[in-house]
Amino acid sequence: MSRVLHRSTRETFETALSGEGSWLTLRTGGRVLDAAGGAAVTCIGHGNQRVASVIAEQAARLTYIHTLFFTSEPSEQLAELLTDDGHFARAFFVSSGSEAMESALKMALQYHVERGAPERTRFIARRQSYHGNTFGALAVSGHPARRSIYEPVLWDTVSHVSPCFPFHAQGAQESDEAYVARLAQDLEDEIQRVGPDTVAAFVAETIVGATSGCVTATTGYFAAVREVCDRHGILIIGDEIMCGMGRSGKRHAWEYEGYRPDIQTVAKGLGGGYVPIGAMLINDRVFDALSAGSGAFVHGHTYQAHPLAARGALEVQRIIREEALVERVATNAEPLRARLGQALEGHVCVADIRGRGYFLGIEFLADPASRRPFPAAAQFSARLKQAALREGLALYVQCHGGRAGLHRRKAGARGHFGRAGSACRLKGWQPPGMCRQRPSAGPYRSFSARRTRSSPSPDHREIGRGWTTKTRTDHPRSARD
Ligand SMILES: Cc1ncc(COP(=O)(O)O)c(C=O)c1O
Repeated sequence: MSRVLHRSTRETFETALSGEGSWLTLRTGGRVLDAAGGAAVTCIGHGNQRVASVIAEQAARLTYIHTLFFTSEPSEQLAELLTDDGHFARAFFVSSGSEAMESALKMALQYHVERGAPERTRFIARRQSYHGNTFGALAVSGHPARRSIYEPVLWDTVSHVSPCFPFHAQGAQESDEAYVARLAQDLEDEIQRVGPDTVAAFVAETIVGATSGCVTATTGYFAAVREVCDRHGILIIGDEIMCGMGRSGKRHAWEYEGYRPDIQTVAKGLGGGYVPIGAMLINDRVFDALSAGSGAFVHGHTYQAHPLAARGALEVQRIIREEALVERVATNAEPLRARLGQALEGHVCVADIRGRGYFLGIEFLADPASRRPFPAAAQFSARLKQAALREGLALYVQCHGGRAGLHRRKAGARGHFGRAGSACRLKGWQPPGMCRQRPSAGPYRSFSARRTRSSPSPDHREIGRGWTTKTRTDHPRSARD
């Protein structure tokens, strides 16, 4: 019997003994292809000996310092590396994505205090989003299942607007420009509703991960959001915890968007799974306000800027740079997407394949044509995950309101790409009695490649609007990430 409080008290979990490249070896002797890099974390593969040895070296030299007194070489070098493109002025290191988000939310509040506007205490985030499981991060998250039991104590200073999710919410006759204008107006309306002088920051994932499966924004969306926020003196917090650090084919996913957030969070691909680490990056505007004001961020953790974590992440980032892995993602992204499309061609439940770089998601629907999701009772995502595992394939499967999606892994070290199509071993799988193979479907084409859309399903035109504590998903164990 295990004494670990696992994610579920009803499931038993196989023990993973070791990892090498994209593969995990289990105690039973079985091997599993870690196809999504866990929760989109592993980015240079498992078992990298170079990272292992620098961590061991650092552990022998120095593991902890009190950051009220000292700094360390690894954290200084990692901050240097993360700011050397000139986009950000400073990096603040913590131990997870949620901690990075807490730091970002507090930094936004303090920015306004430093500038003499302490009444700016509100955040506007988006429905169908995930920013972490600590209270502040959860308060801005639009993830009904993870919020539901905590709803009574979550901040009431947060409101949520529509996400940019064209697959489900763009009208059949609506141009991209009109859709973007509608979303910008939605944000403007919310700012006016709560009072422009009360809003500290707008919070958004550049590419939405866990709640909708690699949803990129419509061209012009973030530039429009930037314009609205700038007009009202509102900061933008860009959450790149899942999509950042190269997974999209650029270091920052916002580089595709013609805009830059004021505060950014990164985590998963920063340490690549070797060390628990996250970071908040701040631009000159935010740093200057802080240094011209009190000069001290009113926030901190015992393990912030942990030397061992920083040393591991530094080596991961050096490897990514030396092996030009981000460039590899950019080069191989389209072939990967095409291969997924070919392999899943004709599967009646595959509604969309989308994303950017190696951050690709597949959305499954009971009926893609009408955008009808699976009934909650079907337990589609849990069954898909189990079916994949039986095939020796670990996927990142999520469900939102009956829709299920899965993620692909990031760059990976040399050779991983060749195995990426293995996810398609699932091609022939379908949940019994739920969907049949489409008899004569043409080659699958991604939603973004199809210029005509079917009408958005009525319940998705306003993504997540009106979610309540009773929102159903087919996955009651909702604290997954
Ligand atoms: C976009 C995003 N933000 C924040 C988080 C929270 O990160 P962590 O689980 O490391 O606290 C996650 C985790 O999945 C995430 O995907």
